[in-house]
Parts: sequence; structure tokens; C-alpha cells
Amino acid sequence: MREVAVIGIGLTKFGELWNKSFRQLITEAGSKAILDSGIEGKDIDAMYIGSMSSGRFIGQEHIGALVADASGFSHMHIPATRVEGACASGGLAVRQGYLSIVSGVNDVVVIGGIEKMNDVGGVSATETLATAADQEWEAFFGATFPALYAMIAKRHMHKYKTTKEQLAQVAVKNHANGAKNPNAQYRREIPIEMVLNASPVATPLGLFDCSPVSDGSAAIVMCAADIAKKYKDNPVKIIGSGQGSDTLPLHGRRDICTLDATVHAAKKAYKQANIKPSDVDLAEVHDCFTIAEICAIEDLGFVKKGEGGKAIDRKITTLDGTIPVNTSGGLKSKGHPVGATGVAQVVEIVQQLRGEADRRQVKNAKIGLAHNVGGSGATSVVHIMEAM
Ligand code: COA
Repeated sequence: MREVAVIGIGLTKFGELWNKSFRQLITEAGSKAILDSGIEGKDIDAMYIGSMSSGRFIGQEHIGALVADASGFSHMHIPATRVEGACASGGLAVRQGYLSIVSGVNDVVVIGGIEKMNDVGGVSATETLATAADQEWEAFFGATFPALYAMIAKRHMHKYKTTKEQLAQVAVKNHANGAKNPNAQYRREIPIEMVLNASPVATPLGLFDCSPVSDGSAAIVMCAADIAKKYKDNPVKIIGSGQGSDTLPLHGRRDICTLDATVHAAKKAYKQANIKPSDVDLAEVHDCFTIAEICAIEDLGFVKKGEGGKAIDRKITTLDGTIPVNTSGGLKSKGHPVGATGVAQVVEIVQQLRGEADRRQVKNAKIGLAHNVGGSGATSVVHIMEAM
């Protein structure tokens, strides 16, 4: 099978970006990635753009062509395709680009991820996000994403004695990491009391258990590994890629505390990479809510099922822990512009594996994992990367 490497990365700041348009955000991230990679426009074989709901957020569909046009490539007629899988849209775009190189169809591809969520109000943003839940069985009854993840949290607390303090520690850790990330939406450390005493959103989840509503964009350039060094002297190889799906509504799952789509995606990615979970040096996982990070570290095999809360107590996921998780600040603190998230996770892992993560650098990082989830777990995608 043909091998694939990431040779360029680009990221905008995440946050409430009132003074930047959708076009400005995606072209900023894309041009940073292209400049970083050393390629020229003529080298690009295809573009894949992850965006969950640009139609509802900014009233604009047909994003693939729009991005190619805004980037100044319309005269070159480069194939440009939008990829959608709810909050996993970015991760899926990475995987589509990866598969197109593995198959031999393309040599060099640009992947973008974007969402501009704040142009609509909070209620409308919540309704738009809820379109990724099951309309008939969940959203119709008012079950928004905070509510669905609150159900997962309650079940996890009941079944495994996970505590509200353990959930809160996830937020404290991710805000501490985000404070070290110049592109993060929230760059302030928060004490545990602030998380525990925050206004409730969907019990047991409070304000600081939730990722925010964000604007932002991320991009990467990938190419066939055998030509990577022609462009970049420190490429990062994708050594495993896996994707899984599951029932759209929570009630169809065998266990709502386990995201089987993640278990399946991770198993495929580990097998391809020929590694065990314990070989991973750091991970960016989908912490859309604090409980989601606890489920993720279990489903990815870093700890046994039910022991995620205790692992947080043991501080194994902090920057200097045995498996640092969400060094970027994660969705919680860096922000979660949904279509951009999966691409931004890859950006963080590549930065870490290149040794360019500055104050949040993980020592001797050789293998990193990115985990991106759509909805409450109906889609999951995992990529494993290694410095070349
Ligand atoms: N984490 C930390 N701080 C947050 C925050 C978050 N998730 N959301 C908002 N804030 C801060 C704001 O910056 C603001 O601070 P300021 O007063 O100092 O400016 C304050 O809290 C109030 O912000 P506001 O925008 O009024 O909050 P809100 O009540 O409208 O929204 C949530 C808060 C949690 C409901 C909203 O962020 C949300 O819906 N998050 C979940 C998004 C989601 O479901 N994503 C998909 C996951 S699958």
C-alpha cells in the first residue's frame, strides 16, 4: 500500500471571529499550510473540505468549489469536494484525501476544515448542531448535544462511579493546555471550583464541561510519502487510518458509555500502524464535553473501560503524564468550529511530532493519534502519525 505524509499545516485562531469572513478564514489556513509545505498551486491534484453545516450557519453551500475559487485556483479546475460527517467532517476530509493518495489517484492533496458558527445566535447554533442527532428520536424531543452527552455522563457515573470532580479535572487540564496555545479560543487557566460551580447546561454538565460555539479553520497538505522530502525536510507519516459508524440515536447502542464507532476505527488504525495503544506518545481526542474525553481514552484503549475517571485522578493525561491528551487545549479550550476540528487535531499532532509545540511540547513525542467524532458517536475517525 502507498504511504502518505503530511508536509504542511495551517491554522487560524479559533474564537468569535466577527471581523473575518468564511472565505478569509479558509484561505488563511490554506495558504499557511501551502507555504509551510513547499508545494506550489500547480502541484495540487485535489482538495477536500470538511464543513458540517455551512448552509445553516452562513447560508452558503457548494463549499468545495467556493474554497477552490477563493484560493485563486478556479482557473486550474482542481477537483474540490466538500465532506460532511457532523463534527467529524474534518477528520473524514483528512481520510478521503489520505485514501485518494493511497489508491494512487492523487499525489498531492490539500485538506481544509472550516466552520463559522457565531454568525447565527446561540439558539440557532444549538438547533443546527442538533441536526446531527436523530431528528425523530432525539432532537424532536429537545435532546440537544449537551443533553445527549449528559445522559452518557449520568450513565458513566452510575455504572463506573465516575465523579463530577473527575469530569471537572478534564476541563481544568484542557484549559491549562489551551492557555499555552496562541490559537485557542480560551487562553485562561481555570480552577476546579469554577468548573464545579458554573451554571448548569444539562445536568451533570455545566458551562465549563462544554466545548464552545466557535469560528475557525485548519488546513493540511498531504502527499505520497516517497515524494515528501522533495517538498519538506521533516514530513510526518500517517501510519494508520480507521473509520467506524454506529446507530445515529443513542438508544440503539449496546452501551451508551462506549462509542463502538471509535473502538472499531481505533482497532483498524492500530492494526495498520502495527502498534498498541501503549505505543502512542500523545493524543488529540474529541472532548466536545468532558465526559467525551473520559469515554475516548477508554475506547481508544489507553485505559480499561470504566477507568477513565480514575485515570484523570492519576493525572496520566496531563502534559507530563504517560499519555498526554489534548495538548492543544482540545475542543474544550481551543474551541470547536465543528468542520475544522478534525483537521486542527492533525495540525496539533504534526506540530508536536516536529517538536514545534513550544510551551506545550511533549518530550520525545514520536507517535501521535487524532480522534474525531461525529454527533454522539455515530461516526468516528482515527489517524495515527509518526515522525519520518
Ligand atoms: N467554555 C468556556 N467558556 C464559555 C463556553 C465554554 N463552552 N461557552 C461560553 N463561554 C463563556 C463566554 O466566553 C462568555 O464569557 P464572557 O461573559 O466573559 O464573555 C460566557 O461564558 C457566556 O457565554 P455565552 O455565549 O452567553 O454562553 P451560552 O450560555 O450562550 O453558551 C453553551 C454556552 C455551553 C451552551 C454553548 O457554548 C454550547 O452550546 N456549547 C456546546 C456546543 C456543542 O454542542 N457542540 C457540538 C458538540 S457535539
